[in-house]
Amino acid sequence: MKTINIAIDGPAGAGKSSVAREVSSELGFIYVDTGALYRTVALYACDNDIKSEKELIEALDDINIELNFISGTQRIMLNDEDVTDDIRTPEISMGASRVSAIPEVRKYLFDLQKKIARENDVIMDGRDIGTVVLPDADLKIFLTASVDERASRRYIELKEKSECPSYEEIREDIIKRDYNDSHRAVAPLRKADDAYVVDTTYMGFHEVCAEIISVIKTKLEIDD
Ligand code: DC
Repeated sequence: MKTINIAIDGPAGAGKSSVAREVSSELGFIYVDTGALYRTVALYACDNDIKSEKELIEALDDINIELNFISGTQRIMLNDEDVTDDIRTPEISMGASRVSAIPEVRKYLFDLQKKIARENDVIMDGRDIGTVVLPDADLKIFLTASVDERASRRYIELKEKSECPSYEEIREDIIKRDYNDSHRAVAPLRKADDAYVVDTTYMGFHEVCAEIISVIKTKLEIDD
């Protein structure tokens, strides 16, 4: 049976993951956070003191990543260890942006993403989901917001976790990651031509979720 696949792409801090999580749970889909896959490769490189691209490519065979979905919530396993919480640091965010530019890393993670989408009704978020991973997705959404708004959301989020880079540092990181993610040669961050754009700069979380749920229901002809 054909599964339903919804792609959500957009820059760092646009609110993709919180929105995709909420919308998935509302519609009974599995939410797949593909950024977590790149973060896990970056964590492996960091923990194993891997310094060069060549070393990382050679190490890919030793990296076994699995996604488990517990009550719809994604847990990510790296060589049988749950690293879901360990990949959420500013250092790993930047590392993920770097390793994601390596074509071999993208190829390695591509099959895993395709398999999950083939087997489940998913909302998958990332940078290249609508353009490369799921070009035939049932619906593509591009979620964006201004740099200042994204930096201020990240700042509030990190402040709550008591890791506290300054607002300026977070803003600089976001600008750097936007640049890396949209200028790499392979599968750069780009809006798919047929994506529905939601600019969340002046929108509240619930407003964004309501708009996306409504677009999905219309597209998939789901009754309220
Ligand atoms: O969504 P995130 O911030 O967790 O993603 C971390 C990095 O991974 C991001 O800077 C770019 C990369 N990424 C990617 O290249 N392709 C994806 N589909 C998802 C993330």
